[in-house]
Amino acid sequence: MPRSHWASRASFVLAASGSAVGLGNIWKFPYITGENGGGAFVLVYLACIALVGLPILLAEIHLGRTAQCSVSGVFQRLHHPRSPWRAVGVLALLSAVLVLGFYSVVGGWVLDFTFKAATGALTTGSDDAVSHSLDGLLASAGRLIVWQSLFMGLTVLIVLRGVSAGIERAARVLMPGLLLLLLVLLGRVAFMSGFEPALGYLLRPDFGALSADSILVAVGHAFFTLSLATGTMMTYGSYLPAGQAIGRTTLLLGLIDTLVALTAGVVVFSVVFSFAQAPEAGPGLMFVTLPLLFKQLGAGQLVATAFFVLVAFAALTSSISMLEVPVAWASERIQWSRRRATLCCGAVIYALGVLCALSFNLLQDWRLAGRGVFDLMDGLSSLVTMPLGGLLVALFFGWVLGPRAVEQALGPDAGPALRWLLLWSVRLIAPLAVGVVLFTGLTTG
Ligand code: TRP
Repeated sequence: MPRSHWASRASFVLAASGSAVGLGNIWKFPYITGENGGGAFVLVYLACIALVGLPILLAEIHLGRTAQCSVSGVFQRLHHPRSPWRAVGVLALLSAVLVLGFYSVVGGWVLDFTFKAATGALTTGSDDAVSHSLDGLLASAGRLIVWQSLFMGLTVLIVLRGVSAGIERAARVLMPGLLLLLLVLLGRVAFMSGFEPALGYLLRPDFGALSADSILVAVGHAFFTLSLATGTMMTYGSYLPAGQAIGRTTLLLGLIDTLVALTAGVVVFSVVFSFAQAPEAGPGLMFVTLPLLFKQLGAGQLVATAFFVLVAFAALTSSISMLEVPVAWASERIQWSRRRATLCCGAVIYALGVLCALSFNLLQDWRLAGRGVFDLMDGLSSLVTMPLGGLLVALFFGWVLGPRAVEQALGPDAGPALRWLLLWSVRLIAPLAVGVVLFTGLTTG
């Protein structure tokens, strides 16, 4: 079978930015920024994106694009058939499965909140009821599984239709929709009293609020938000025609992802500060604090609905990119049809997701090292398999493929300074930064 390709570079940008922009941007970025004191954390995060995230993103897209195959074959094709580096492909596959397992559960929470927002339950309930929406959902195994099934079902339906008719088509609708909703929300908060304080909070650094831990969080998040180290970007890169430079495209992806995260931060904190709330609410910022505030807003039901639809779109374009990793692997490696590959991989991940969902209620007592299934899968991927995979990708690109690959990836117009910077960030800077995250994760996590 001939390999599928994106219809155009714009399709790739839409699909890959769809992967990058997700719960990481709208849910996680604002709350970790809040927990780490605002502006100074934003600066550190931007530095991590530039020095660690973008170089590895470029490396992954380059690997997929030159090898023209899924994660299972990339390292064999670019190195040699018995290359020990092929373990990196397996690691990526494992990370994709782990991440999607718990991501689909959170995707389910978002659908539940979208439904509650649209029906008005989120904005008309008592304060007490609204602030317990998430707890109530977590306590109910049935509801969690229904919404998670719907989320996984949508993901499977899109991936089932293939690269152009499924993933590309979905990104063409969902991404513009997402950007439009984000702009509408930005317009809504721009006249609120919290808007300027929010800008100040995100842009004015207060280095006193920063800890060593914040830097680790920033490196880890740079990975997560750019969908690195799970084979996602390699797989999407493999649907690009071989042989074009990808420097600018990579930069564009980084810019889109960062701008969406910052805009989401402005929207969230404008609401938070308009009602004089504290920014450091943690993971509950989006699911508890915001709904309580939407209630008090003019046209709150509409704003809340727009907000959660936006989050749902973002989560869906990310989850399809994760499912595509094992699906591409199974269709190439064991020659399954797309249908069979999607249904089987979807089923395995779904089963893991159900265990994650149940770890909040029925399986609360299933613990390993003090963690339930959800935390285990989150911790294992974000502290171990993803940093390790990213580290190895950077080293492979920097040391095994070396300067020639850097030249090919950046194209002929890139100056020597840029080439040098990229080469040494994949050879040294990114591996060091990621190595520290890995070491700390292994010793303290
Ligand atoms: N980047 C997405 C987000 O910010 C999540 C995501 C998609 C992802 N694909 C991934 C995270 C692969 C890690 C690995 O929400």
